[in-house]
Amino acid sequence: MHQRPIGVFDSGLGGLTVLQALDDLLPDEDLLYVGDTARYPYGDKSPEELVHHAGQIAGFLVDAGAKMIVVACNSATAAALQPLQQQLDVPVVGVVAPGLRAAAAASRTHRTVVICTQVTAESRIYERTAEELRAGVEVRVLACPGFVQLVEEDRTVGPEAERLVADRLAPLLSARVDTLVLGCTHFPLLARTISKIVGRGVTLVSSADETAFEVKDLLERTGWLRSGTPPGRRVFHTTGDPERFRELGTRFLGYPLEDVRGLALAELVGRPVDPARTR
Ligand code: DGL
Repeated sequence: MHQRPIGVFDSGLGGLTVLQALDDLLPDEDLLYVGDTARYPYGDKSPEELVHHAGQIAGFLVDAGAKMIVVACNSATAAALQPLQQQLDVPVVGVVAPGLRAAAAASRTHRTVVICTQVTAESRIYERTAEELRAGVEVRVLACPGFVQLVEEDRTVGPEAERLVADRLAPLLSARVDTLVLGCTHFPLLARTISKIVGRGVTLVSSADETAFEVKDLLERTGWLRSGTPPGRRVFHTTGDPERFRELGTRFLGYPLEDVRGLALAELVGRPVDPARTR
């Protein structure tokens, strides 16, 4: 088991922020990434659609040998973490609980705002998880439609991005918050613009590092840490255009993405946890 890769997925490039943290903490692990770029954004999909898409992708990753799945997407975590945990034989880790733990550690006022996609906000997963974990932070949630597109369309800086970010974050600017949870894995890629708008007094909290620590803990507990020749391999799949994914991903990660493969949606049909197959 320990020689197998860790499967990581998101609607597109956002999950690379989590992959980067895994890369830093677990350089010897093989990482297998899927960006569902053809069907992004996930944030405006229904929970049922996300259960379907996440099931297909997780099924693909398990078929490819993944020993663990990291749902590197808050929207898919909100809609599909539980069904995936119930249906899969391998551990499945989401990004919401790690994000809250990071916020609890960073906030001095114990009051935080989570910015996220529409489907994540509507799910109320942050409020519920904060209560379940007794995280010790009071959570307010703000949906920020359009931010994901700024990232996927490579428009993260400049006047247009600043206008949209200022507009969406306006309700926050008068509130006294010291931390802002980036409750969408795309948002760290927009951090420069978000910081410019909210000011340096507000700490931006991402779930990426905490998620990587959770994965490491789990691998240590199960004895599944990879012991092969370092460094681990990184293989990227996208349901969109591989060349574009390679170009933007290389810029975001800061090292060349050597192995980027196209993944046709047709290849995802009939995977073990595709509800279309079990219906
Ligand atoms: N990066 C994802 C998230 O964390 C999905 C964003 C989207 O595609 O709308 O929610």
